[in-house]
Amino acid sequence: MTARYRVGIIACGNIAQLHLRSYRAVPGIEVVAGADVSPQTRERWQTELGIPRMYATAEEMLEREQLDIVSICTWPPLRPEMTELACARGVRAVVAEKPMAVDLAGCDRMIAAAERAGTVLIVHHQRRFRSRFVKAKELIDSGAIGRVEQINVYNGGDILTSSSHMVDTMSYLLGDPPAEWVIGQIDRRDPGFTNRPIGLQQWEETHTRYGHHVETGALGLIQFEGGARGLVECGIVSRPRPGYSATIYGTDGMIETSGDRPEPGEPWLRARIKGEPDWIYPDAPPNEATQAAFERLLEVLEHGGTHPLDMRMARRIHEILMAIYESSRRRARIDLPLTVTESPLEAMIAAGDV
Ligand SMILES: NC(=O)c1ccc[n+]([C@@H]2O[C@H](COP(=O)([O-])OP(=O)(O)OC[C@H]3O[C@@H](n4cnc5c(N)ncnc54)[C@H](O)[C@@H]3O)[C@@H](O)[C@H]2O)c1
Repeated sequence: MTARYRVGIIACGNIAQLHLRSYRAVPGIEVVAGADVSPQTRERWQTELGIPRMYATAEEMLEREQLDIVSICTWPPLRPEMTELACARGVRAVVAEKPMAVDLAGCDRMIAAAERAGTVLIVHHQRRFRSRFVKAKELIDSGAIGRVEQINVYNGGDILTSSSHMVDTMSYLLGDPPAEWVIGQIDRRDPGFTNRPIGLQQWEETHTRYGHHVETGALGLIQFEGGARGLVECGIVSRPRPGYSATIYGTDGMIETSGDRPEPGEPWLRARIKGEPDWIYPDAPPNEATQAAFERLLEVLEHGGTHPLDMRMARRIHEILMAIYESSRRRARIDLPLTVTESPLEAMIAAGDV
Protein backbone atom coordinates (compact mmCIF):
# COMPACT_ATOMS: atom_id res chain seq x y z
CA MET A 1 0.00 0.00 0.00
CA THR A 2 1.33 3.45 -0.87
CA ALA A 3 1.63 5.70 2.15
CA ARG A 4 -0.62 8.73 2.06
CA TYR A 5 1.93 10.79 3.96
CA ARG A 6 5.66 10.87 3.26
CA VAL A 7 7.71 12.00 6.24
CA GLY A 8 11.26 13.32 6.52
CA ILE A 9 13.05 13.87 9.83
CA ILE A 10 15.62 16.63 10.24
CA ALA A 11 18.25 15.86 12.95
CA CYS A 12 18.20 12.17 13.81
CA GLY A 13 19.45 12.18 17.41
CA ASN A 14 17.83 11.11 20.65
CA ILE A 15 14.25 12.40 20.36
CA ALA A 16 14.04 11.74 16.61
CA GLN A 17 13.85 8.04 17.44
CA LEU A 18 10.58 8.62 19.29
CA HIS A 19 9.27 10.50 16.22
CA LEU A 20 10.30 7.60 13.99
CA ARG A 21 8.72 4.96 16.23
CA SER A 22 5.52 6.95 16.56
CA TYR A 23 5.16 7.67 12.82
CA ARG A 24 5.67 3.99 12.11
CA ALA A 25 2.77 3.14 14.43
CA VAL A 26 0.33 5.31 12.45
CA PRO A 27 -1.22 3.68 9.36
CA GLY A 28 -0.82 5.72 6.20
CA ILE A 29 2.49 7.32 7.21
CA GLU A 30 5.91 6.32 5.95
CA VAL A 31 9.21 7.83 7.05
CA VAL A 32 11.06 7.95 3.74
CA ALA A 33 14.11 10.05 4.58
CA GLY A 34 16.20 11.69 7.25
CA ALA A 35 18.85 14.39 7.39
CA ASP A 36 21.70 14.62 9.89
CA VAL A 37 25.17 16.15 9.80
CA SER A 38 26.69 13.08 11.47
CA PRO A 39 27.83 10.33 9.04
CA GLN A 40 27.60 7.72 11.83
CA THR A 41 23.98 8.66 12.50
CA ARG A 42 23.11 8.55 8.80
CA GLU A 43 24.69 5.12 8.55
CA ARG A 44 22.82 3.81 11.60
CA TRP A 45 19.46 5.16 10.48
CA GLN A 46 19.86 3.62 7.06
CA THR A 47 21.22 0.20 8.03
CA GLU A 48 19.77 -0.43 11.51
CA LEU A 49 16.54 1.53 11.34
CA GLY A 50 15.79 0.92 7.67
CA ILE A 51 15.32 4.50 6.50
CA PRO A 52 15.47 4.43 2.69
CA ARG A 53 17.43 7.65 2.12
CA MET A 54 19.62 9.73 4.44
CA TYR A 55 21.01 13.18 3.61
CA ALA A 56 23.79 15.29 5.11
CA THR A 57 21.71 18.47 4.95
CA ALA A 58 18.07 19.34 5.42
CA GLU A 59 18.20 21.42 2.24
CA GLU A 60 19.16 18.41 0.12
CA MET A 61 16.50 16.20 1.67
CA LEU A 62 13.81 18.84 1.15
CA GLU A 63 14.90 19.40 -2.44
CA ARG A 64 15.03 15.74 -3.45
CA GLU A 65 12.04 14.31 -1.58
CA GLN A 66 8.40 15.18 -2.03
CA LEU A 67 7.56 15.33 1.67
CA ASP A 68 4.17 15.87 3.25
CA ILE A 69 5.31 16.07 6.89
CA VAL A 70 8.67 17.13 8.30
CA SER A 71 9.83 16.66 11.89
CA ILE A 72 12.43 19.15 13.11
CA CYS A 73 14.42 17.54 15.91
CA THR A 74 17.39 19.92 15.91
CA TRP A 75 18.48 21.86 18.94
CA PRO A 76 16.33 25.01 19.38
CA PRO A 77 18.64 27.65 17.80
CA LEU A 78 18.24 25.96 14.39
CA ARG A 79 14.46 25.53 14.61
CA PRO A 80 13.33 28.81 12.95
CA GLU A 81 15.68 28.38 9.98
CA MET A 82 14.71 24.73 9.47
CA THR A 83 11.01 25.58 9.73
CA GLU A 84 11.42 28.30 7.10
CA LEU A 85 13.17 25.84 4.77
CA ALA A 86 10.50 23.16 5.18
CA CYS A 87 7.58 25.57 4.81
CA ALA A 88 9.13 27.17 1.74
CA ARG A 89 9.14 23.68 0.16
CA GLY A 90 5.36 23.52 0.64
CA VAL A 91 5.18 20.63 3.09
CA ARG A 92 1.73 20.19 4.56
CA ALA A 93 2.82 19.89 8.17
CA VAL A 94 5.86 20.57 10.33
CA VAL A 95 6.31 18.94 13.73
CA ALA A 96 8.83 21.06 15.63
CA GLU A 97 10.46 19.81 18.80
CA LYS A 98 10.17 21.87 21.95
CA PRO A 99 11.12 24.41 23.11
CA MET A 100 9.69 26.08 20.04
CA ALA A 101 12.78 28.32 19.67
CA VAL A 102 15.20 30.17 21.92
CA ASP A 103 13.29 33.46 21.86
CA LEU A 104 9.95 34.90 20.75
CA ALA A 105 11.54 36.36 17.62
CA GLY A 106 12.31 32.76 16.59
CA CYS A 107 8.74 31.65 17.33
CA ASP A 108 7.43 34.54 15.23
CA ARG A 109 9.66 33.58 12.28
CA MET A 110 8.28 30.05 12.44
CA ILE A 111 4.66 31.18 12.61
CA ALA A 112 5.16 33.63 9.73
CA ALA A 113 6.75 30.89 7.58
CA ALA A 114 3.90 28.47 8.29
CA GLU A 115 1.24 31.10 7.62
CA ARG A 116 2.88 32.14 4.34
CA ALA A 117 2.93 28.55 3.12
CA GLY A 118 -0.35 27.36 4.64
CA THR A 119 1.60 24.70 6.58
CA VAL A 120 0.20 23.21 9.77
CA LEU A 121 2.92 23.81 12.39
CA ILE A 122 2.74 22.00 15.71
CA VAL A 123 5.21 21.87 18.61
CA HIS A 124 5.90 18.56 20.33
CA HIS A 125 4.50 19.24 23.80
CA GLN A 126 3.27 15.66 23.86
CA ARG A 127 2.33 15.61 27.53
CA ARG A 128 -1.06 17.04 26.50
CA PHE A 129 -1.72 13.55 25.19
CA ARG A 130 -0.34 11.65 28.23
CA SER A 131 -3.02 9.60 29.95
CA ARG A 132 -2.31 10.84 33.49
CA PHE A 133 -2.84 14.46 32.44
CA VAL A 134 -5.80 13.63 30.19
CA LYS A 135 -7.41 11.83 33.14
CA ALA A 136 -6.60 14.70 35.50
CA LYS A 137 -8.26 17.12 33.08
CA GLU A 138 -11.34 14.90 32.87
CA LEU A 139 -11.59 15.01 36.67
CA ILE A 140 -11.17 18.78 36.71
CA ASP A 141 -13.74 19.26 33.95
CA SER A 142 -16.21 17.02 35.77
CA GLY A 143 -16.08 19.41 38.74
CA ALA A 144 -14.67 16.68 41.03
CA ILE A 145 -12.26 19.06 42.79
CA GLY A 146 -14.32 22.25 42.47
CA ARG A 147 -12.72 25.32 40.91
CA VAL A 148 -8.99 24.99 40.29
CA GLU A 149 -7.09 27.58 42.30
CA GLN A 150 -3.48 26.53 41.80
CA ILE A 151 -1.38 24.08 39.79
CA ASN A 152 2.22 23.38 40.81
CA VAL A 153 4.55 21.66 38.36
CA TYR A 154 7.99 20.26 39.09
CA ASN A 155 11.06 19.22 37.15
CA GLY A 156 14.76 18.94 37.80
CA GLY A 157 15.74 20.59 34.52
CA ASP A 158 15.57 24.14 33.26
CA ILE A 159 13.01 26.58 31.91
CA LEU A 160 13.40 25.93 28.18
CA THR A 161 14.21 22.23 28.18
CA SER A 162 11.77 20.92 30.77
CA SER A 163 9.44 23.65 32.00
CA SER A 164 8.30 24.21 28.41
CA HIS A 165 6.49 20.87 28.79
CA MET A 166 5.12 21.58 32.22
CA VAL A 167 3.86 25.11 31.56
CA ASP A 168 2.10 23.68 28.53
CA THR A 169 0.62 20.92 30.71
CA MET A 170 -0.53 23.45 33.29
CA SER A 171 -2.20 25.54 30.59
CA TYR A 172 -3.89 22.42 29.17
CA LEU A 173 -5.23 21.38 32.57
CA LEU A 174 -6.72 24.83 33.07
CA GLY A 175 -8.37 24.86 29.63
CA ASP A 176 -5.80 27.27 28.13
CA PRO A 177 -6.87 30.60 29.65
CA PRO A 178 -4.62 33.52 28.66
CA ALA A 179 -1.93 34.40 31.21
CA GLU A 180 -2.23 37.90 32.70
CA TRP A 181 1.12 38.31 34.44
CA VAL A 182 4.21 36.41 35.53
CA ILE A 183 6.71 36.92 38.32
CA GLY A 184 9.85 34.82 38.50
CA GLN A 185 13.45 34.41 39.52
CA ILE A 186 16.40 32.36 38.35
CA ASP A 187 19.63 31.06 39.88
CA ARG A 188 22.73 30.80 37.71
CA ARG A 189 25.30 29.04 39.91
CA ASP A 190 27.49 26.45 38.16
CA PRO A 191 25.51 23.21 38.28
CA GLY A 192 28.58 20.96 38.08
CA PHE A 193 26.35 18.49 36.22
CA THR A 194 27.53 15.33 37.93
CA ASN A 195 24.72 13.25 36.41
CA ARG A 196 24.96 14.86 32.96
CA PRO A 197 21.42 15.35 31.70
CA ILE A 198 21.07 15.13 27.92
CA GLY A 199 21.77 18.10 25.64
CA LEU A 200 25.08 18.87 27.36
CA GLN A 201 27.53 17.81 24.67
CA GLN A 202 28.97 21.35 24.53
CA TRP A 203 28.84 22.16 28.24
CA GLU A 204 32.60 22.25 28.89
CA GLU A 205 33.30 24.66 26.01
CA THR A 206 30.19 26.85 25.96
CA HIS A 207 28.27 26.34 29.20
CA THR A 208 25.13 25.88 27.11
CA ARG A 209 22.58 23.09 26.98
CA TYR A 210 21.03 22.23 23.61
CA GLY A 211 22.87 25.23 22.17
CA HIS A 212 21.34 27.89 24.44
CA HIS A 213 22.10 29.15 27.93
CA VAL A 214 20.21 27.71 30.87
CA GLU A 215 19.76 28.56 34.51
CA THR A 216 20.42 26.20 37.41
CA GLY A 217 17.10 26.78 39.09
CA ALA A 218 13.99 28.85 38.50
CA LEU A 219 10.63 29.69 39.99
CA GLY A 220 7.78 31.22 38.06
CA LEU A 221 4.35 32.24 39.32
CA ILE A 222 1.75 32.73 36.61
CA GLN A 223 -1.61 34.48 37.05
CA PHE A 224 -4.16 33.16 34.58
CA GLU A 225 -7.37 34.83 33.52
CA GLY A 226 -10.25 33.46 35.58
CA GLY A 227 -8.23 33.41 38.80
CA ALA A 228 -6.12 30.25 38.76
CA ARG A 229 -2.39 30.46 39.39
CA GLY A 230 0.43 28.23 38.27
CA LEU A 231 3.75 27.70 40.02
CA VAL A 232 6.72 26.33 38.07
CA GLU A 233 9.55 24.89 40.14
CA CYS A 234 12.62 23.69 38.31
CA GLY A 235 16.27 22.76 38.76
CA ILE A 236 17.81 23.29 42.17
CA VAL A 237 14.75 25.08 43.57
CA SER A 238 12.27 22.36 42.66
CA ARG A 239 10.88 20.33 45.52
CA PRO A 240 12.15 16.74 45.42
CA ARG A 241 9.10 15.61 43.45
CA PRO A 242 9.21 13.30 40.45
CA GLY A 243 10.21 15.06 37.22
CA TYR A 244 7.23 16.15 35.12
CA SER A 245 4.70 15.76 37.93
CA ALA A 246 1.94 18.12 38.97
CA THR A 247 -0.22 18.94 41.98
CA ILE A 248 -3.58 20.51 41.29
CA TYR A 249 -5.44 22.27 44.10
CA GLY A 250 -9.17 22.93 43.78
CA THR A 251 -11.72 24.49 46.09
CA ASP A 252 -13.13 21.01 46.88
CA GLY A 253 -10.22 18.63 46.41
CA MET A 254 -6.84 17.99 44.87
CA ILE A 255 -5.09 15.80 42.30
CA GLU A 256 -1.49 14.57 42.27
CA THR A 257 0.12 13.08 39.19
CA SER A 258 3.27 11.01 39.15
CA GLY A 259 6.27 11.96 37.06
CA ASP A 260 7.32 10.22 33.87
CA ARG A 261 8.94 7.32 35.73
CA PRO A 262 6.99 6.36 38.85
CA GLU A 263 8.52 4.11 41.49
CA PRO A 264 7.20 0.53 41.54
CA GLY A 265 3.73 0.62 43.09
CA GLU A 266 3.43 4.41 42.83
CA PRO A 267 0.11 5.39 41.18
CA TRP A 268 0.07 7.49 38.01
CA LEU A 269 -2.63 9.60 39.58
CA ARG A 270 -4.45 10.02 42.86
CA ALA A 271 -7.12 12.49 43.92
CA ARG A 272 -9.15 13.70 46.88
CA ILE A 273 -12.53 14.51 45.44
CA LYS A 274 -15.89 15.76 46.63
CA GLY A 275 -17.95 13.06 48.34
CA GLU A 276 -15.10 10.53 48.72
CA PRO A 277 -13.71 9.97 52.23
CA ASP A 278 -10.22 8.97 51.06
CA TRP A 279 -7.84 9.19 48.09
CA ILE A 280 -9.12 7.69 44.86
CA TYR A 281 -6.77 6.15 42.30
CA PRO A 282 -8.18 6.66 38.78
CA ASP A 283 -6.89 4.35 36.09
CA ALA A 284 -4.45 6.15 33.79
CA PRO A 285 -2.22 3.50 32.21
CA PRO A 286 0.76 4.82 30.24
CA ASN A 287 0.06 5.49 26.57
CA GLU A 288 1.90 6.47 23.39
CA ALA A 289 1.41 10.23 23.59
CA THR A 290 3.47 11.13 20.52
CA GLN A 291 1.63 8.60 18.40
CA ALA A 292 -1.66 10.09 19.62
CA ALA A 293 -0.42 13.58 18.66
CA PHE A 294 0.51 12.33 15.17
CA GLU A 295 -2.87 10.63 14.73
CA ARG A 296 -4.52 13.92 15.58
CA LEU A 297 -2.28 15.67 13.06
CA LEU A 298 -3.62 13.43 10.29
CA GLU A 299 -7.18 14.28 11.36
CA VAL A 300 -6.35 17.97 11.08
CA LEU A 301 -4.74 17.48 7.66
CA GLU A 302 -7.73 15.51 6.42
CA HIS A 303 -10.62 17.32 8.04
CA GLY A 304 -9.27 20.71 9.11
CA GLY A 305 -9.47 22.21 12.59
CA THR A 306 -6.80 23.28 15.05
CA HIS A 307 -4.36 20.80 16.57
CA PRO A 308 -3.99 20.96 20.38
CA LEU A 309 -0.23 21.50 19.86
CA ASP A 310 -0.80 24.35 17.40
CA MET A 311 2.01 26.90 16.92
CA ARG A 312 -0.01 29.78 18.40
CA MET A 313 -0.59 27.88 21.62
CA ALA A 314 3.12 27.00 21.74
CA ARG A 315 4.00 30.68 21.32
CA ARG A 316 1.78 31.56 24.29
CA ILE A 317 3.68 28.99 26.37
CA HIS A 318 7.01 30.37 25.16
CA GLU A 319 5.91 33.89 26.11
CA ILE A 320 5.32 32.72 29.70
CA LEU A 321 8.79 31.13 29.82
CA MET A 322 10.39 34.32 28.50
CA ALA A 323 8.38 36.38 31.01
CA ILE A 324 9.97 34.39 33.87
CA TYR A 325 13.39 35.48 32.56
CA GLU A 326 12.19 39.04 31.98
CA SER A 327 10.83 39.21 35.53
CA SER A 328 14.22 38.14 36.84
CA ARG A 329 15.94 40.74 34.63
CA ARG A 330 13.67 43.62 35.65
CA ARG A 331 12.94 42.44 39.20
CA ALA A 332 9.28 43.11 38.49
CA ARG A 333 5.93 41.53 37.79
CA ILE A 334 5.65 41.22 34.02
CA ASP A 335 2.24 42.01 32.60
CA LEU A 336 1.53 40.20 29.35
CA PRO A 337 1.77 40.51 26.41
CA LEU A 338 5.53 40.57 26.68
CA THR A 339 6.97 43.29 24.49
CA VAL A 340 10.55 42.04 24.18
CA THR A 341 11.19 39.37 21.56
CA GLU A 342 14.83 38.61 22.43
CA SER A 343 15.59 36.04 25.14
CA PRO A 344 15.98 38.02 28.37
CA LEU A 345 18.27 35.26 29.70
CA GLU A 346 20.59 35.45 26.69
CA ALA A 347 20.51 39.27 26.92
CA MET A 348 21.36 39.23 30.63
CA ILE A 349 24.27 36.86 30.05
CA ALA A 350 25.56 38.91 27.09
CA ALA A 351 25.43 42.03 29.27
CA GLY A 352 27.24 40.25 32.11
CA ASP A 353 24.25 40.73 34.43
CA VAL A 354 24.00 37.13 35.66
N1 LIG B 1 9.56 16.30 23.49
C1 LIG B 1 10.40 15.64 24.27
O1 LIG B 1 10.02 14.88 25.14
C2 LIG B 1 11.89 15.84 24.09
C3 LIG B 1 12.79 14.93 24.68
C4 LIG B 1 14.17 15.12 24.43
C5 LIG B 1 14.61 16.20 23.69
N2 LIG B 1 13.67 17.08 23.17
C6 LIG B 1 14.12 18.25 22.38
O2 LIG B 1 14.52 17.80 21.10
C7 LIG B 1 15.60 18.59 20.61
C8 LIG B 1 16.74 17.66 20.21
O3 LIG B 1 17.16 16.96 21.36
P1 LIG B 1 17.98 15.58 21.27
O4 LIG B 1 18.14 15.11 22.68
O5 LIG B 1 17.36 14.70 20.27
O6 LIG B 1 19.38 16.10 20.72
P2 LIG B 1 20.58 15.23 20.14
O7 LIG B 1 21.82 15.98 20.45
O8 LIG B 1 20.46 13.80 20.58
O9 LIG B 1 20.31 15.22 18.56
C9 LIG B 1 20.52 16.34 17.75
C10 LIG B 1 20.89 15.83 16.36
O10 LIG B 1 20.98 16.98 15.49
C11 LIG B 1 22.00 16.69 14.56
N3 LIG B 1 22.34 17.96 13.90
C12 LIG B 1 23.07 18.99 14.38
N4 LIG B 1 23.11 20.00 13.49
C13 LIG B 1 22.36 19.61 12.43
C14 LIG B 1 22.01 20.21 11.19
N5 LIG B 1 22.45 21.44 10.86
N6 LIG B 1 21.25 19.51 10.33
C15 LIG B 1 20.83 18.25 10.63
N7 LIG B 1 21.11 17.64 11.80
C16 LIG B 1 21.87 18.31 12.68
C17 LIG B 1 23.08 16.05 15.40
O11 LIG B 1 24.04 15.34 14.61
C18 LIG B 1 22.24 15.13 16.28
O12 LIG B 1 22.08 13.85 15.69
C19 LIG B 1 15.96 19.58 21.74
O13 LIG B 1 15.34 20.81 21.48
C20 LIG B 1 15.32 18.95 22.97
O14 LIG B 1 14.91 19.89 23.95
C21 LIG B 1 12.35 16.90 23.34
